[in-house]
Amino acid sequence: MEQIQFKLKERKSNVVLPETLGFGKIFTDHMFEMDYSEKIGWHNPTIKPVDELTVHPASMFIHYGQAVFEGLKAFKQESGDIVIFRPDKHFKRLNNSSRRICIPEIDVDFALEALNKLINIDKEWIPGKHGDSLYIRPFIYGMDPFLGVKPSKTYKFVILLSPVGAYYPEGFKPVKILVTDEYVRAVRKGLGDCKTPANYAASLLAGEQAIKHGYTQVLWLDGVEQKYIEEVGTMNIFINLKNEIVTPKLNGSILPGVTRRSVIELLKEWNMNIVERDITIDEVVQSYDNGNLLGVFGTGTAAIISSVGWLTYKNKQMVINDGKPGELALKLFEELTSIHYGLKEDIHNWLTPVEQKEVVTS
Ligand SMILES: Cc1ncc(COP(=O)(O)O)c(C=O)c1O
Repeated sequence: MEQIQFKLKERKSNVVLPETLGFGKIFTDHMFEMDYSEKIGWHNPTIKPVDELTVHPASMFIHYGQAVFEGLKAFKQESGDIVIFRPDKHFKRLNNSSRRICIPEIDVDFALEALNKLINIDKEWIPGKHGDSLYIRPFIYGMDPFLGVKPSKTYKFVILLSPVGAYYPEGFKPVKILVTDEYVRAVRKGLGDCKTPANYAASLLAGEQAIKHGYTQVLWLDGVEQKYIEEVGTMNIFINLKNEIVTPKLNGSILPGVTRRSVIELLKEWNMNIVERDITIDEVVQSYDNGNLLGVFGTGTAAIISSVGWLTYKNKQMVINDGKPGELALKLFEELTSIHYGLKEDIHNWLTPVEQKEVVTS
């Protein structure tokens, strides 16, 4: 792979971050960009100022959705160290998503190196407050200006950085969830286990309708029978029962979450009975009725852990743990965030440090 080219912005003053960051609204000064053509492969890796992307109106991703993306985070620790949470897993998942929709894969090591350099250049943009972080959005899209349905021959890979605030700035707040049997997010053998825009487009209407009825998000059931639980909003789901903790096993329509994997690893280390298996919504309702349902929570990069306080399925309204955050959800949230911010040792090697040195740009 060629050397990365640098076309850096002249910074006139220090970066001043707003008091409230929110999510995904602010972007750093620079982005990474790389092109693909059949003849050359991936080429022209460049770090340059964030700017508009020029796309032909016939660009294939606009019409046929040939695009993939990722979402991961970097954290600034008290020591000043900057670390990225499991970036290798995210870039490997990006390649898995790409393979499914005929996008050429990227070199994971090279992507990690590019990300390292990009973060180092824009490190002033990383907020220092506990709970805040730098959200990283790598994405690839098919660019051919062609209206026929077939894989594009040219692509662009971009990494964008966005400083974000804590998901729950006022503390861990349980969410209200509506189980939808009216819409499905994905089906097995479709795109459900890929991070591709189509899945998110498919989820919007159900989410909007749930919000209109006073819910935070929806819980998705399987696409065939609407019987098995799959995910909650854009998070993986865990059901804490008296004798076991269950998370739906990866079946092709569930995104293999990096937080999900980390939570499973932690629960195993804590000698808890974590089981990956199919679980029906009827079993969740029955467990609630029998007093066996201790907690429900979602896992994902954005919120890390999200406790479900209320769950509604058809006419059944379930109040979980009196609408208070579950003990296990809280414990997992504390554990993961302590690792992120360096308050607990990273015994699993989940953190990749960003090398903070002057980037040689010429
Ligand atoms: C549909 C969906 N499920 C689950 C997740 C959680 O995955 P991760 O823990 O890797 O962020 C995400 C977020 O990326 C998602 O979009």
